[in-house]
Amino acid sequence: MAQEEGGRLAEVRARVAASHGITDLAHKLHFYDRWAPDYDQDVATLQYRAPRLAVDCLTQALPGPPHTALILDVACGTGLVAAELQARGFLQLHGVDGSPAMLGQARARGLYQHLSLCTLGQEPLPSPEGTFDAVLMVGALSDGQVPCSAIPELLRVTKPGGLVCLTTRTNPSNLPYKEALEATLDRLEQAGVWERLVAWPVDRWELATSELEVAPGTSARDGFISGIVYLYRKQQATQVEG
Ligand SMILES: C[S@@+](CC[C@H](N)C(=O)[O-])C[C@H]1O[C@@H](n2cnc3c(N)ncnc32)[C@H](O)[C@@H]1O
Repeated sequence: MAQEEGGRLAEVRARVAASHGITDLAHKLHFYDRWAPDYDQDVATLQYRAPRLAVDCLTQALPGPPHTALILDVACGTGLVAAELQARGFLQLHGVDGSPAMLGQARARGLYQHLSLCTLGQEPLPSPEGTFDAVLMVGALSDGQVPCSAIPELLRVTKPGGLVCLTTRTNPSNLPYKEALEATLDRLEQAGVWERLVAWPVDRWELATSELEVAPGTSARDGFISGIVYLYRKQQATQVEG
């Protein structure tokens, strides 16, 4: 039995490691199309906790009763973030993703009021300025997925005073992306368009896909990689430029 479980974990690690190696967006989205039917089971095997961590962070800061908040889940995948939000009473959920098959899984979950196909970095979000009380993007900020240049688009569709919650991994191969991301986040803060409320480093983010990702001297422990959750509040009156 334990041998079977070990074999399954090795299989999932190999699959996810292959996905991390894809840096071309079109290839990555095709990869997600093929992965969609097995995604939930595979990330459970990896003990992927990002949706829960991000939703915990966001919902502690969101004012007002949960059912009144309109929330956009960007790169929603199969809808794991929506499941966490619904469990806390958030019911007005919209989602976008660049993979039709991942969106199909999200639709089958039945938790989103609207789902749209949208490739971040190539096209705008399909919503007017200032629509959402909160915007989340979980598990999609890395090479070959959502480029840092798409961050202002998240801000555009957020209401003045609304919240934006983002996650990224802090394992060695993602550190150059994380650095570029933080430069973008800081530049927007210096421009006065939003303020950082939280930067929450998390040790046990998900199981590493290889020993190389658990770098000596980092905070990763027990075969886990680390990650980080950011929470920002959009200023009341801002002009968002790309
Ligand atoms: C690791 S999954 C995360 C899904 C979900 N947020 C979760 O945490 O389970 C990454 C998702 O981002 C989507 N994605 C990656 N790059 C994208 C892009 N540029 N535009 C839209 N979706 C993208 C993929 O199709 C995939 O569904």
